[in-house]
This record gives sequence, structure tokens and C-alpha cells, in this order.
Amino acid sequence: MATKILGIGSYVPEKVLTNKDLEKIVDTSDEWITTRTGIKERRICSPSEASSDLGYKSALNAIANAGILKEKIEMIITATITPDMPFPSTSCIMQKKLGLDNIPCFDINVACSGFIYGLEIARNFIDSGTYSTILIIATDCMSSVTDYTDRSTCILLGDGSASAVVAKSDEGPGILGSYLGASGKYAELLYMPAGGSRQPASIGTVSQRLHYMKMEGSTVYKIAINSMVDAVNMVLKKTGISKDDISLFIPHQANLRIIQSVGKNLGIPMEKTFINIERYGNMSAASVGVALDEAARAGKVRKGDIICMVAFGSGFVWASNIIKI
Ligand code: ACO
Repeated sequence: MATKILGIGSYVPEKVLTNKDLEKIVDTSDEWITTRTGIKERRICSPSEASSDLGYKSALNAIANAGILKEKIEMIITATITPDMPFPSTSCIMQKKLGLDNIPCFDINVACSGFIYGLEIARNFIDSGTYSTILIIATDCMSSVTDYTDRSTCILLGDGSASAVVAKSDEGPGILGSYLGASGKYAELLYMPAGGSRQPASIGTVSQRLHYMKMEGSTVYKIAINSMVDAVNMVLKKTGISKDDISLFIPHQANLRIIQSVGKNLGIPMEKTFINIERYGNMSAASVGVALDEAARAGKVRKGDIICMVAFGSGFVWASNIIKI
């Protein structure tokens, strides 16, 4: 028996925010954003949409794609850094929306690595025999923590969601292995200072714009490349898979130049690398899952393929895995 992704689904909000739109808001240009990041547009929630609304739609798509009754789900793990509210967990909100009850639900806060961390947590619960079917929902409304007066961050981020049903299956091999990493010493290079117990919301924190994401972009850029290269090498070593055996490489979609550098360092050609950053920007936890779903729907995932995913985000937290279809 193998532990595998039985079904995958994604959802992005309808509203499109283009580089041309951003030119009207901050001192930037389509040319600068395109050449420095590869991003042309991103999706933005409507005022009535929150992370659980996107998550609900991607979860329904994943459950339908898995071909199971939702009642088979025994646990919900939601990966988000933009929960609907500090508590209860977005997972509990998702459980209610899905009409399920009395199954364990919890959130994980690992930023852009959320989809891969979620898969690995689910795999361990399943491999240990505790549960057999787990729903992972990676969902972020980054627009809710984006400062649209800060040109160095607002051009990067977008909203979206991806879900996966992970289950025991007699059709293997499934998830071959994962590598998880983190380093809290870099916490303040990419963070949201206020809104937690350290600096609860106040007129002062709002007026100082402390409820938005702050990032030292060029330092994050360099560490992101090294960490993702290291994470892929670690998971290749762990699973005994050669980089040449990778059929499809799905890196986190934060910046096209980061993706190109990671691929070049690893010796993985761009033809094997899935890229959709031009349409969505960085959707944090959702990016890798949305890419996997789009790759599958585009016919780029075939029986016997070996897929390598890798991500990096706030924390810093990074993760990689290898899946055989
Ligand atoms: N338009 C025009 N000019 C800009 C813009 C903009 N939108 N943003 C910055 N600039 C300017 C800067 O002010 C600077 O000007 P100066 O030289 O006069 O001071 C110049 O462009 C260069 O700025 P850099 O920050 O050095 O630009 P860089 O090439 O590093 O690109 C970027 C910035 C795109 C943010 C890049 O550093 C990056 O992608 N960083 C990593 C992002 C990432 O991976 N985040 C991790 C995941 S996010 C998460 O976890 C939620």
C-alpha cells in the first residue's frame, strides 16, 4: 500500500490585478516588474472573500477529483498565514463549511512551504496507520496583509488556494520522501510585526502600517535560492532518486529569477520546470499546489512520472518532496 495524492484541486479569485493597474497605485512599471520578477498579473479576493472561501472551493475540487465522498475525510490540515481570524483555526471553519463534524482539524503556519509541509504531516499520520484519508488545504489571501503603498512587496503577492486529498492506495508508489527545514534566526527578514500578542492591534500599530508584510527582499532572495537548492539535494539523497529522473520540477513561484537560479544550480532544465508565476505572483502556501493542479490538468503529469516540489517562505521555512505517479 502507498500513500498518495488521490485528488488535487485549486481555486483563484476572479479579480485580476495587472502590472498596469499597479503602475497607477505605486511608482513602478510593467517593465520593471516583468524583468525583475516574471509576474504580469495576480488574483485578488473580493471584499467578501477570505482564505476559507478560497479554501472551500479548492477543497471541493480536490474531493471531486479524488472521486470520494467527503465523509471519507478523517482529518483537515489547513496551511495558511492569512487565517480568516486569529482563532478559531481556519481548519475548523473549513470543517463547518464542508458539512463535516467530529474530525480533527488544525492549521499550520509555514508560509510558502505549507502545501509540502501539509503533505508530509498527512503522509506520517497515514503511514503510521492512525488515519487513512486526509484533506490538506493550502490557502492564502496575501492581499489582506499587503501594503499597497510599498512597491517592493505589493507587486509580488496574490491570492489563491490549492487542496489535496491524501490517502492510502494500492496504486503506488505515491509520496517517496520529503525534506523539511526551518531557521528562526531569519524571522525578521520576512514578517508581519503586529496583530499578535507581541503587538496587539491598536491605533498606533495601524497608523504605523504594522499589519502588513515587511520583507528585506534582496537578502531573502539569496537565502531562498540556497535553501531551495539544498532542500532538493537533500530529498534526492534521501530517496535515492537522481535529478535526471525528475520528469517535472515544481518550485515555489516567488520570483522567476529565483526559479531560474535554482534550476541552473541543480542542473534541472527549464523545460522540466512548471511555471505559472506570470499569472498569479506569489500565493504563499497555495503556489506549489496550484502549480501541481495546473500541471495535472495540462496533461503534464503522467503515470510513472517523478515530480519534485520545493518551497521556501517566512520563518524561514523550506521543504521539498518527491512523488512518483
Ligand atoms: N518598481 C520599481 N522599482 C522598484 C520596485 C518596483 N516595484 N521595487 C523596488 N524597486 C527599486 C528599489 O527601490 C531599488 O532602487 P534603488 O537602487 O534606487 O535603491 C531597486 O529597485 C532595486 O531594488 P532591490 O530590492 O535590490 O531589487 P531586486 O532585484 O532584489 O528585486 C524583489 C526585489 C523582486 C523583491 C526580490 O528581491 C525578490 O524577489 N526577493 C525574494 C522574494 C521572496 O522570495 N520571498 C519569499 C517568499 S514570500 C512569503 O513567504 C510570503
